[in-house]
Amino acid sequence: MNVRNPNSSGRSSSAIIWIVLAGLAIIAGGFLIATLTPSLLPAQASAQAVEVDELFRFLLTIGGAIFLLVQGVLAFSVVRFRARAGDTSDGPPIHGNTTLEFVWTAIPAVIVLVITIYSYQVWTTTRAPQPNETVAGVVGARFAWTFTYDVAPEDFPADVDIAQLPENVQATLAENGSIQLVSNQFHTYVGQDVRLEMVTEDVIHSFWVPSMRIKQDLLPGRVTEVRFTPIEPGVYRVVCAELCGSGHGDMAGQIVNGNLVGGWVIVHPDEETYRREFLEPETLSVLFPPEDPVELGRQILASGRYPCNTCHTLDDLGWVGTIGPSLNGIGARTQRLDASGHPDMETYLHESIRNPGAYLVPGFGNLMPQFNPEPTQPNYMPEADLEAVVAYLLSQTE
Ligand code: CUA
Repeated sequence: MNVRNPNSSGRSSSAIIWIVLAGLAIIAGGFLIATLTPSLLPAQASAQAVEVDELFRFLLTIGGAIFLLVQGVLAFSVVRFRARAGDTSDGPPIHGNTTLEFVWTAIPAVIVLVITIYSYQVWTTTRAPQPNETVAGVVGARFAWTFTYDVAPEDFPADVDIAQLPENVQATLAENGSIQLVSNQFHTYVGQDVRLEMVTEDVIHSFWVPSMRIKQDLLPGRVTEVRFTPIEPGVYRVVCAELCGSGHGDMAGQIVNGNLVGGWVIVHPDEETYRREFLEPETLSVLFPPEDPVELGRQILASGRYPCNTCHTLDDLGWVGTIGPSLNGIGARTQRLDASGHPDMETYLHESIRNPGAYLVPGFGNLMPQFNPEPTQPNYMPEADLEAVVAYLLSQTE
């Protein structure tokens, strides 16, 4: 039965206007949601972040519009078709509508297809190998991130002996001749394509750098990869995004007493700055020794490479040993020259380290180890180190 309302053509044209207006409002609302929501996200620090955010905005536009459509129809229906007082009748016996079913199947199918193609494209471009990418290893373990990466030999001075690095600096000579550094921080620079090869020592972890919009699980028995190209300099925290045990939260980059603990990705503005600063200052000063022998000597002694602090006092370095003579003001103690028979303080200090038993300061025993010039000898101290140490000691005149 189909009863025509005499006013139906006027009613339906105004309904169409309303539907068009509502449709426009819904689409505008979708764009509004997609524009406002990303402002809650951390800064975009990688090229991948830009692509991922664009995809995210696209999804938000569609999702936001559908959300508004569904909620709008719901709200409209609740008001428009609410039960009137005294109306106990049933609704009309509707049984299927092929056109409607076709439309509400076809539209989502098209949307899903577009999303699939777009997402796949973002997925492949953000993971595509880059010709000049640098590779770093990442080990996830309960509960720490460890980066292992190489620094090219040309970035290191030829005279750096990595076996002489302080214990807190883990560095080894890689097979290709480069220096391999191990740290909880990974340093790189803007524009450098990076590939991380990741393994886990125990359970599943998930390597997540929110600002880079990269997140990848580490799976036992497998090597997984993630790529990023930094576009903004900065210090970015790594977060573990897979609950891995009681210390799961400790894997996240945190600043504790000014120190970077947990995992960090540090992006320098350019290659030059990176080369200058990619290591912690103390490491850097060892790897790139100061030219000034006095500074170099101070640094060598401060590094603890030689155990002088156990027996000597030296205020400048905070040493408080009493087994050997104090080194405060040693550079000015020329009265020892007559007794020891050396022509100058430089020769005196040189001999006191190479052959400490030859002359003993009155009141002190022959207890100091002899520091030898050859690597094959015990207590090896290269001549270059010795000269720098002597230069520094000569500068201690007060
Ligand atoms: Cu590692 Cu959570």
